[in-house]
Amino acid sequence: MRAAIAAAEVGDEQIREDPTVNELESRMAEILAQGEAVFVPTATMANEIALRVLAEPGDELIAEEESHILLSELGGPAVFAGLMARPIYSPNGRFTPEQVREKARSGDLGHTPTTRIVAIENTHNSSGGRVWPVVEIEALADECHALEIALHIDGARLFNAAVASGEEPATIARHAETVTICFSKGLGCPFGAVVAGSGERMLRARRFKHQFGGAMRQAGMAAAACVYALDHHVDRLAEDHARARRLAEALVEAGLPVDLEQVETNFVQIDVGALGLNQMEAMERLLDEGVRLSTTMGSRLRAVTHLDISDEEVERAAELIPRALDVPARV
Ligand SMILES: Cc1ncc(COP(=O)(O)O)c(C=O)c1O
Repeated sequence: MRAAIAAAEVGDEQIREDPTVNELESRMAEILAQGEAVFVPTATMANEIALRVLAEPGDELIAEEESHILLSELGGPAVFAGLMARPIYSPNGRFTPEQVREKARSGDLGHTPTTRIVAIENTHNSSGGRVWPVVEIEALADECHALEIALHIDGARLFNAAVASGEEPATIARHAETVTICFSKGLGCPFGAVVAGSGERMLRARRFKHQFGGAMRQAGMAAAACVYALDHHVDRLAEDHARARRLAEALVEAGLPVDLEQVETNFVQIDVGALGLNQMEAMERLLDEGVRLSTTMGSRLRAVTHLDISDEEVERAAELIPRALDVPARV
């Protein structure tokens, strides 16, 4: 990837003269079965642009309560698109067409805002990297379209969802008006994301990208990493998923509170609260043993497998984590 970055052909991205960015954008549009894709620095910016494209200030956004869009973008949907948020809580990150129908507002009462966007997250980060089955996305999209609501997929980890479910990315993405993909997660790039949608919507997306400060110059250096990742780092996500499953099973075997049902992709959540520990105490103990986990929802910590984590490291972590958390060895 470093060699691809060094050899990248570049040009002025702001005026669409960077050949490597252009190549990435056209490949991504095809992969996602959307009219166009727009390269941006981060998936947060991609989400914010999509929301701004799909609605006007004062409109309403329905999303899962613990979704990245509502939880981890510092109120961006309110700041950049002026949206009201209507959260739906779900323990596995998914919600139903019926729930959308119940929540959605048509705005025809003269006082209430209009629901314009439903955003889903696939995979859903805070529920443990869980995957939306395509049939559920299809049913949700049908309901949204019947209600004249746009569907946005925050697919920061959509390639993980595709690999885990055996679906093509296009099969997942084609149901949505806009889709976000992140290259700096399992795909292993230093940075980069795309937002994709129809040509008309992406024309507006390019305008907002510039207004938000995301129009770049010789961005081909970053896009070259993303092109490299498309060629080399997609199929291998299956290895990360297998390693996460191996780690999860070993931790359950060692007596740790891990819900195996949650482990569908590359995350393993450990509920340290059930061991009488708070997140910070548990993280410190783990760091002392040389294992770095991150915090996630409630009293859980999250282990993530990715292209820098080997089988040996998974086996080592499976030994060190129970020891650090003081779970008595099983006989
Ligand atoms: C589901 C989801 N969407 C969007 C993002 C934002 O990605 P970035 O860090 O590139 O802004 C993240 C980051 O963790 C994420 O998990």
